[in-house]
Amino acid sequence: MKELEVKLNTNSYKIIIEDGLINHLSFYIKEVYQNKKIFIITDDIVKDLYLDKAIKSLENDYDVDYVVVPHGEESKSIETYANVCEALIDKGIKRNNLIIALGGGVIGDLSGFIAATLYRGIPYVGIPTSLLSQMDSSIGGKTGIDFYNKKNILGAFKQPKMVLIDPNTLDTLDKREFNNGMGELIKHGAIGNIDLLNMLKNKPRIDENIIAESLKVKRKVVEADEFDLGDRMKLNFGHTFGHAIELKYHYKHGEAVAIGMLMALRLGIHLGVTDKNCLEEIENIIKLYELPCDYYDYKDYLDDILYDKKNIAGVINFIFLTHLGESIIYKIDEEKLKELK
Ligand SMILES: NC(=O)c1ccc[n+]([C@@H]2O[C@H](COP(=O)([O-])OP(=O)(O)OC[C@H]3O[C@@H](n4cnc5c(N)ncnc54)[C@H](O)[C@@H]3O)[C@@H](O)[C@H]2O)c1
Ligand SMILES: [Zn+2]
Repeated sequence: MKELEVKLNTNSYKIIIEDGLINHLSFYIKEVYQNKKIFIITDDIVKDLYLDKAIKSLENDYDVDYVVVPHGEESKSIETYANVCEALIDKGIKRNNLIIALGGGVIGDLSGFIAATLYRGIPYVGIPTSLLSQMDSSIGGKTGIDFYNKKNILGAFKQPKMVLIDPNTLDTLDKREFNNGMGELIKHGAIGNIDLLNMLKNKPRIDENIIAESLKVKRKVVEADEFDLGDRMKLNFGHTFGHAIELKYHYKHGEAVAIGMLMALRLGIHLGVTDKNCLEEIENIIKLYELPCDYYDYKDYLDDILYDKKNIAGVINFIFLTHLGESIIYKIDEEKLKELK
């Protein structure tokens, strides 16, 4: 068992990582919730795999009800948000009840947003089940849904009361979903945790130690920058090019991030910011986990980046590695970027 604490100005909470934890949830939930009623929000795939176990491990101490949504990003919609709120209200949810988000990042973001907004806030606990949600999205307090063709555009910061992670649930994840998390996990090692990179070199099973090391990187930037105003930007390593690649090809987000990291490493080396051996080391780990590492020339994507509306006043914040496990925010202006082509 591994235990971490996220310490924030607004509140603090525990993360427990333990194989088989889904079979004794009450034991931990009792620490943060003493009322009777619990509402689990999950998706149809996770429901079939884990809902019964979760209910069984709670029902001796709690009165448990649940709402199921279809799996996939489409459920981060205003329609699903409305449907789930309606269902919860019909089932009699009160503001002093507890919501549990049981599932991947979609369920985490949707349930967190419901917990932030229904009755102006209901406590919630995250039980992330995908690799991406276990190693990243379940902490940090960003919740929300997609709207008007834009991702995460309606949302709120809402911290969970507790995050409970059972790495055994990863056994049922399919390869592409595993890759999706793995790209981001390697990124965490690259930007902030050389020990994590070294652990990955032997291609171990993704266990509680690895998840804990990954979460330590996220925790550090979240604690330093609770409301995403600066340092959290480092989590975008590989994302500037990754997004451009993701828009053009059929990669999962985490796969595109893997490719984007290799592009950012090449550019960083070209600019003399990144230590040369970073590229080979990161590329080896990406290959080891069979993530795509197809070669894309960063020069071909500078235009996409230049005209991306997010780039304020022609200045682009790139995240580069200086050395393995160390990253910096590096500003490049429009003129300099054009010279690189
Ligand atoms: N809030 C944040 O800080 C943050 C950070 C990164 C990503 N996100 C969001 O997270 C979402 C992506 O998360 P995701 O990749 O977990 O997607 P997801 O929730 O859609 O899960 C991926 C798929 O895996 C299935 N699944 C989940 N756990 C499983 C298990 N144990 N066994 C078998 N199948 C399982 C799900 O049903 C789904 O079909 C995106 O919407 C993204 O915007 C949020
Ligand atoms: Zn990402």
